[in-house]
Amino acid sequence: MGDTYRMFLDMVSGSRYIVAFTGAGVSAESGIPTFRDKGGLWERFRPEELASVEGFMRDPVKVWRWYIWRMRTIYSSEPNYAHLALALLERKGRLRSIITQNIDGLHTKAGSRRVIEIHGSIWRVRCARCAYRSEIKEVPNESELPPTCPECGYMLRPDVVWFGEPLDNMKWSMAVKEATRSDLFMVIGTSGAVYPAAELPYIARNSGSRIIVIDPNPTAFDDIADLRIWSRASEFFRGIWRDLESLPPLDPA
Ligand code: APR
Repeated sequence: MGDTYRMFLDMVSGSRYIVAFTGAGVSAESGIPTFRDKGGLWERFRPEELASVEGFMRDPVKVWRWYIWRMRTIYSSEPNYAHLALALLERKGRLRSIITQNIDGLHTKAGSRRVIEIHGSIWRVRCARCAYRSEIKEVPNESELPPTCPECGYMLRPDVVWFGEPLDNMKWSMAVKEATRSDLFMVIGTSGAVYPAAELPYIARNSGSRIIVIDPNPTAFDDIADLRIWSRASEFFRGIWRDLESLPPLDPA
């Protein structure tokens, strides 16, 4: 791994605007299942039933029960070295933002501040009819499902992007701006199976960014990677942790 570390550190040291783009793989070593891996969520559950408006309208209690199960898994999980390393690079003024497809909140829990959650957050709910939305601190009570909107009384739903739904405009344009401004774009733990999120590495590359891909398995972005790291994310960042710690902060000039 020696020369991979050196190449990674050279690319990080030589960049002024690093952006990370993460998927479920970055949280895998925190004990949160991914979607399309062996044993992943979509192997055990049907996304159209549990992560779509039609599925929710057909059986809101079933969808809420599934999200409560996921909340419980996430609630007891901790950020791993990958989350912590990205927060460390942000504190050093090197990493400017994280664009994440994850809804688990672990980047924020690790201390990252500029996190664009383009698929929403499992820790936020919104009304399935009016504009009401709110953060939630604990798991909703299973005996009162679906929770109802305090403004209009209709059903509340998780504030996440379901299949077939558009992304939040403001978040998407922020993500595109960050990808365009980046000079180094780190793709960590995403298969690249879902659009428009999967457009972001190409947007970054087309605007001149160098691309790093960190994933133990093949991904859709392997052919555009300037540095391909065939490793699990937390394992890689644990190994390079000391070198990252001794990186000088980037002068704000
Ligand atoms: N470290 C790094 N990468 C890993 C690890 C690990 N420890 N374990 C698995 N991976 C990789 C897998 O090899 C795979 O490439 O993480 C990726 C996970 O891919 P998916 O399960 O498809 O998850 P993701 O790309 O985030 O899915 C995107 O699809 O279902 C929707 O909205 C959901 O946000 C999700 C979107």
